[in-house]
Amino acid sequence: MGKFSIIVYISIALLLLFFLSHSPKKTQNHRHRRLRLRSSYNFNPSRHESVAFDPLVADIERRREDRQWEKQYMENSHPELADHDAAPAHESQPEWEDFMNAEDYLNDEDKFNVTNRLVLLFPKIDVDPADGYINEHELTEWNMQQAEREVLHRSQREMETHDKNRDGFVSFAEYDPPSWVQNSDNNSFGYDMGWWKEEHFNASDADGNGLLNITEFNDFLHPADSKNPKLILWLCKEEVRERDSDKDGKVNFKEFFHGLFDLVRNYDDEVHNSSHLSDDSMDAPARQLFAQLDKDGDGYLSDVELLPIIGKLHPSERYYAKQQADYIISQADTDKDGRLTLTEMIENPYDMEIMSRIQILLLVRMNSLLKK
Ligand SMILES: *[C@@H]1O[C@H](CO)[C@@H](O)[C@H](O)[C@H]1NC(C)=O
Ligand SMILES: *[C@@H]1O[C@H](CO)[C@@H](O)[C@H](O)[C@H]1NC(C)=O
Ligand SMILES: *[C@@H]1O[C@H](CO)[C@@H](O)[C@H](O)[C@H]1NC(C)=O
Ligand SMILES: *[C@@H]1O[C@H](CO)[C@@H](O)[C@H](O)[C@H]1NC(C)=O
Ligand SMILES: *[C@@H]1O[C@H](CO)[C@@H](O)[C@H](O)[C@H]1NC(C)=O
Repeated sequence: MGKFSIIVYISIALLLLFFLSHSPKKTQNHRHRRLRLRSSYNFNPSRHESVAFDPLVADIERRREDRQWEKQYMENSHPELADHDAAPAHESQPEWEDFMNAEDYLNDEDKFNVTNRLVLLFPKIDVDPADGYINEHELTEWNMQQAEREVLHRSQREMETHDKNRDGFVSFAEYDPPSWVQNSDNNSFGYDMGWWKEEHFNASDADGNGLLNITEFNDFLHPADSKNPKLILWLCKEEVRERDSDKDGKVNFKEFFHGLFDLVRNYDDEVHNSSHLSDDSMDAPARQLFAQLDKDGDGYLSDVELLPIIGKLHPSERYYAKQQADYIISQADTDKDGRLTLTEMIENPYDMEIMSRIQILLLVRMNSLLKK
């Protein structure tokens, strides 16, 4: 192949890559603001997109994201060192090493052999029970594993920037809240007003030793996914603070109706058709739920009384993992028995987004051509 055609090839691939990294993600959710990971230099890995189904693809994406993150971190914390000449596509361009493992799965036409990957992955997903079918539960668990690995990786990366004395723990003094927290006064009002403050930190500190290890720090960043009861209760307190517009420390029916109830209803209706209904038709079900939650019957909801619905107000990774599983099944379940065989998965490449991610792998061959 001539040098010219290689250059044309690479330009096309870079354009494709640029397009992919800027295209809107399919599974964007209207509640994603809840999960935004706010760091002091505001790196936002566009939560909540679906995590790659194939760990191999996830690995490639992770390396790419790490580099992008490092670059952004340097630009924010050491602007004097930033490389201002870098082309936009440069930051997301994968490096040769990223593809070492993936190359085994490319076929003669430089395409990622999805069939081979599925043959390999299927038995790893089909475990409960291992019966030749992937059901919703197995697929949700699989997605959870991928998501948890991803989330923990991001937390570790984030933790390194805060753990100034490198002892593997973050103290509150080491933790540098985002600038908008430091600058906000006590009267500041709005969403997430208690986030990243000392009370949030203390609630994340499960063993109360004043330091967060990686588990606790991960919980701190993702309270909705935590199993720490102290932190879940803090999240409920925070919800009360956020909704309590008349500042009496509790949520009355009006405050519940205009805010919380919609979130609960949307959560329950997500898979069904949730067209907008009028306030009037929603009043009765809202009052019913309110009465159910208001255990002590005082006409107000306290933090503890929000516990039963907090998972719906702050959807966890499990929620998204299940949503993604349902989506994959709906796309590939040809015989509509609610589960997937290997053949169904192979015949219905599970996700166009993931397929297009895989096209990034085309770059491998182009890089290798260049190096020859
Ligand atoms: C993928 O690999 C399998 C088995 O090695 C082979 O039969 C199939 O033709 C390959 N698919 C493509 C698209 O190359
Ligand atoms: C915020 O409140 C705390 C006590 O709750 C107080 O110590 C601090 O001075 C207040 N800060 C401002 C900026 O008002
Ligand atoms: C957080 O915990 C520390 C003790 O570890 C305590 O001194 C501090 O007052 C607590 N802060 C809040 C806001 O609860
Ligand atoms: C972090 O501390 C908690 C107790 O607060 C403990 O359960 C957890 O296993 C620890 N994590 C690690 C990675 O050591
Ligand atoms: C949802 O319902 C509305 C009318 O109630 C209808 O126009 C729309 O097509 C429905 N959407 C789906 C996805 O069923």
